[in-house]
Amino acid sequence: MPNLPATYVTTTLRDGVVSLGARPFPRDALGAGTVVIKPDHLGICRADVKEILGSRDVMADRGPLFGHELVGAVAFAGAGTGFREGEPVTLNPNITSARTTGFAEYVLVHGTEEQLDQAVVRVPEPSRPDGVWMPEPFACVVHALRKLLHHTGLPSLRGKRAGIIGAGCAGLMFAMYARHLGAPVTVFNRGEPRRAFARQQGILADGEVLPLTDAAAPAHRDGFDIVIVATTVATPELLATAAGLAADGAVLFVYGGTRRGDSFPAGRADVDALRRRERLASVTYREKRIDLAGAYGCLREDYEEGFRLHARHPRDFPLERLASRRISLDEFPRRVMDMATGAADFPGKVLITVAPGE
Ligand SMILES: NC(=O)c1ccc[n+]([C@@H]2O[C@H](COP(=O)([O-])OP(=O)(O)OC[C@H]3O[C@@H](n4cnc5c(N)ncnc54)[C@H](OP(=O)(O)O)[C@@H]3O)[C@@H](O)[C@H]2O)c1
Repeated sequence: MPNLPATYVTTTLRDGVVSLGARPFPRDALGAGTVVIKPDHLGICRADVKEILGSRDVMADRGPLFGHELVGAVAFAGAGTGFREGEPVTLNPNITSARTTGFAEYVLVHGTEEQLDQAVVRVPEPSRPDGVWMPEPFACVVHALRKLLHHTGLPSLRGKRAGIIGAGCAGLMFAMYARHLGAPVTVFNRGEPRRAFARQQGILADGEVLPLTDAAAPAHRDGFDIVIVATTVATPELLATAAGLAADGAVLFVYGGTRRGDSFPAGRADVDALRRRERLASVTYREKRIDLAGAYGCLREDYEEGFRLHARHPRDFPLERLASRRISLDEFPRRVMDMATGAADFPGKVLITVAPGE
């Protein structure tokens, strides 16, 4: 294994503190069912920050998400994996918990050939230095909107009005895709910095992004056929705001931030279970019928659809414009701890570039 070093730099998350250090490379762990990925670029996700804070329910079947957004190349492929060294790949963290953190120079993924075929996804587009984007969060959004179309039986969102709460990375990708599917979009965001970022990057036009307080205005009440909640937490207040935006018969789609036992309206529909099991339930809210639904995670075909959409419709999906900041792996612990404590809040996506020598 000439390409693998004796030691490598990796991250540890322990008791809410992130640290970086060199470790012996675990050569003994390499087997026929192992793929080792050497990431070039990593993304920081809100879920990473939540895991630092301990405010995220970790699913046993997929393990912690800490360090799951990456693009890189296969550095080692066991004989039973179906991969080759050098292939450009990304990770789907929703398949197996038998993997190491992505916030490292090398990531080990173990599994059967079938599991690895889902967990390690080939990247068709060579990434340009100015064109880096993270396939995983987009694949989750592609998956979610496919689910929504499936639930509603609609072929597209043509003629449907889409309201999105949250102009974070997820909210902006929902806006891109819902617009591509034919819906006029309005994104409501609490703070000005993310609204400004969305406008400055040319992702949303002036009229497409509004303060969250505007959601209560009569002009928007009952005004949307699809309302997507894409915030860090789906608080009862935000769900009530979303339900206020929903027209009679609308779909209220919960994407971000539910925890075990969360319900809406209080005590009625289990929104966490609806999201994680990707189900739909109809509720009555203030004399309106609302279909509550959600989505969780993604599959290899969602990545493939994401790559296809980005390649064929680059103007509709300017995903590289979501990157707001580039940092090194050395800087990562300090920056992410600042994000966790609230000392820093970066709109868009913070990317980590792993230098070739790192
Ligand atoms: N279902 C899935 O498969 C899936 C997949 C990936 C991610 N997610 C979830 O999606 C969520 C959003 O991710 P992201 O990457 O978009 O995060 P992000 O870029 O950090 O954006 C977070 C958004 O939440 C808003 N927000 C946070 N707290 C709020 C509050 N109390 N009231 C109103 N708005 C609030 C922020 O608004 P401000 O600008 O005002 O702070 C911002 O718009 C996360 O919870 C993540 O875990 C779900």
